[in-house]
Amino acid sequence: MTDSQRTYSVVIAGLGKRGTHHADVFSANPRFEIVGLCDVDQERLDAAAAKYGVSTAGTRVTQVLADISPDVFCFCTPPFARLDLIRSGVEANVQLIAYEKPMATSTNEALEIMRLLRDTGTKSVVSHQHRYGKHYQKVKEIIASGAIGRVHTVYGHATGWMMHMITHMVEYMRWYNDEAEAEWVVGQAAGKEKFADLHASPDYIAGLIQFENGVRGIVECGDGAPDVPEVDYWWRKCRVGAQGTEGFAEVLTGGGWRAITATSNGVISGPGCMDYAHDMPPYIQQIADWLDDPEIVHPCNGESAFKGFQITMAICRSAVQRGKITLPLGPGEPELEALENALP
Ligand SMILES: NC(=O)c1ccc[n+]([C@@H]2O[C@H](COP(=O)([O-])OP(=O)(O)OC[C@H]3O[C@@H](n4cnc5c(N)ncnc54)[C@H](O)[C@@H]3O)[C@@H](O)[C@H]2O)c1
Repeated sequence: MTDSQRTYSVVIAGLGKRGTHHADVFSANPRFEIVGLCDVDQERLDAAAAKYGVSTAGTRVTQVLADISPDVFCFCTPPFARLDLIRSGVEANVQLIAYEKPMATSTNEALEIMRLLRDTGTKSVVSHQHRYGKHYQKVKEIIASGAIGRVHTVYGHATGWMMHMITHMVEYMRWYNDEAEAEWVVGQAAGKEKFADLHASPDYIAGLIQFENGVRGIVECGDGAPDVPEVDYWWRKCRVGAQGTEGFAEVLTGGGWRAITATSNGVISGPGCMDYAHDMPPYIQQIADWLDDPEIVHPCNGESAFKGFQITMAICRSAVQRGKITLPLGPGEPELEALENALP
């Protein structure tokens, strides 16, 4: 049997909102079979085991993985549970780890995650799945066609706070900027209320990014980021786009896309709204595609997420240390703690 015919076994840990999205789509795709489930919440675990008809279920990831040794380990836990779960997956010799954003909560943790994955040749994908939205893709298509001229600025902002939203924003900004490397950033942050949240963050953060291709990035998240009045649903008040010498193109997460191009004769626009049911199936299918053929690298691959995460952490470091922070980052003081201590 060639890889393009085989079924990949999957263990999923963390069966809340996102774990359920993943489980629904893995179970609907014939290229995958869910063989194990895990959640620290026994009631949730039992409900999921019954729903997906999976007999191997447990509250400890290491145990479930040791019992089964699947091809794919997927985890959708809150942000604080990352490194231990990556280590568990790597030790169980899985081929690919699919996990939720943000990929880590500090540069030190992200560096260790990448070391473990690279040393063992374990593939990884991080769930920045908004890019499958038709409106997100339309903006990419317009920018890539050259219709807005030479891109000089990419931008992304969200009213949701940093550890929820910023890696989404930076991932799509990087995509719209042809994945150019970032050279340096400067950042500023304000407010400490959201450090008490599971997605611990400053209430507001802003960063300027200098990319190697000369393009400037501007990112803002949280209480103080611009409103997107066209969008009602608060979490989808995000705007990501690019400005060029002959126009602009941008996506509103909950409100379609719009652009002015060299030939458009005014604003052109179209529909689209972030929709898990639409975006998750291709995200999951491309996991099988990458496992089948190493050349078909998943668009949401972990190396890309790592680049975006470093930009985020560099913005935090800049807010603490002041001045430009040059990338790539080495180990340092954990950024969230440093930022919480530094903010008045
Ligand atoms: N990609 C997206 O669009 C998107 C959208 C929403 C949330 N997220 C991210 O998904 C992640 C999960 O969010 P959620 O809304 O599904 O949370 P949730 O609270 O609904 O679910 C998390 C689950 O993980 C379980 N859990 C916690 N620690 C565990 C461990 N060590 N082992 C096994 N299970 C454990 C919890 O009991 C819970 O059932 C977060 O990182 C969040 O930022 C991503």
